[in-house]
Amino acid sequence: MGSPDLSIVTGALSYSGKYITRKLLAAGQRVKTITGHPDRANPFGAQVEVAPFRFEDLGGLIETLRGATTLYNTYWVRFPMKGMTYEKATENSKVLIRAAEEAGIKRIVHVSIVKPSKDSPFGYYRGKAEVEETIQASSLSYAILRPTVFFGGEDILINNISWSLRFFPAFPIAGKGDYRIQPIFVEDFAEIAVQQGQATENVVWDVVGPEQYTFRELLRMICRQIGRSALLIPVAPFAMYWGARMIGLLMRDVMLTKDEVGGLMAGLLASDEEPRGATKLSEWIALNQDLLGTVYASELKRR
Ligand SMILES: NC(=O)c1ccc[n+]([C@@H]2O[C@H](COP(=O)([O-])OP(=O)(O)OC[C@H]3O[C@@H](n4cnc5c(N)ncnc54)[C@H](OP(=O)(O)O)[C@@H]3O)[C@@H](O)[C@H]2O)c1
Repeated sequence: MGSPDLSIVTGALSYSGKYITRKLLAAGQRVKTITGHPDRANPFGAQVEVAPFRFEDLGGLIETLRGATTLYNTYWVRFPMKGMTYEKATENSKVLIRAAEEAGIKRIVHVSIVKPSKDSPFGYYRGKAEVEETIQASSLSYAILRPTVFFGGEDILINNISWSLRFFPAFPIAGKGDYRIQPIFVEDFAEIAVQQGQATENVVWDVVGPEQYTFRELLRMICRQIGRSALLIPVAPFAMYWGARMIGLLMRDVMLTKDEVGGLMAGLLASDEEPRGATKLSEWIALNQDLLGTVYASELKRR
């Protein structure tokens, strides 16, 4: 018997990449990660080789990827920071795709976002659409997986909404709060990603959870589960953004971006496709109600 297949996972020491890596290792595969934080604590020890991103050095990046069959790509930037922009992240993603082709990688499982569009008013969604287009024009076989919002583990958004509901008496809610949101459990997502790493067909899938809420319903459900009764106050969208901005300043973080408020209100965080995840957010919260939102999760501290 030869040695097991080698997979490359971007960000195995970060969030979703960590769950993908766990599932790959459990399935007996070998994993190498590429990351912007090669010195970060490695929970996998010697099981996962760690290499730095080398977007500025195509030849070096090709050598890092050589020998692998599948690339699980989680790489992206949530919002522009420290000189990193959506344009730069798009450019880096293109370098990674080219390096994967040249290194002989056969398949890419790429993490995108529901409803990316080159015409979107939001840079995040425009960049995602451009990267998807590059993958589809490449020689790689692909599974493009489009989640909405992850929950579970080191999640930021659902955790920090719950944190606000726990510690503040009121929550500003943009407009009527009737726009939809459909989060997916990060472990369900990782399972689907790993299954798709074994497949050969080209697919572009929304990957969302089984429960869809309006934003107002989501907040009410979280309040019930964590035993809080924060007042939901309808406000103009800019006021919700500024509320989050104030909390961000307080916590030295960026809690929510303008694009995230805009995307949420435009209904971009829900899908019209059949849900592929099985874990219900309401049931997961019921199991984690004592812990959820007890500590603020800072994006900037992770960077
Ligand atoms: N989190 C969500 O709720 C959510 C929802 C929809 C779609 N997605 C998509 O899912 C994918 C993974 O998301 P995630 O939350 O699991 O991300 P993550 O683990 O925080 O980061 C994924 C990868 O991107 C790199 N990265 C993130 N921000 C960066 C920055 N500012 N500069 C340079 N590199 C950066 C990370 O680098 P390091 O290895 O150095 O940490 C890591 O390799 C992304 O493509 C995202 O767009 C996420």
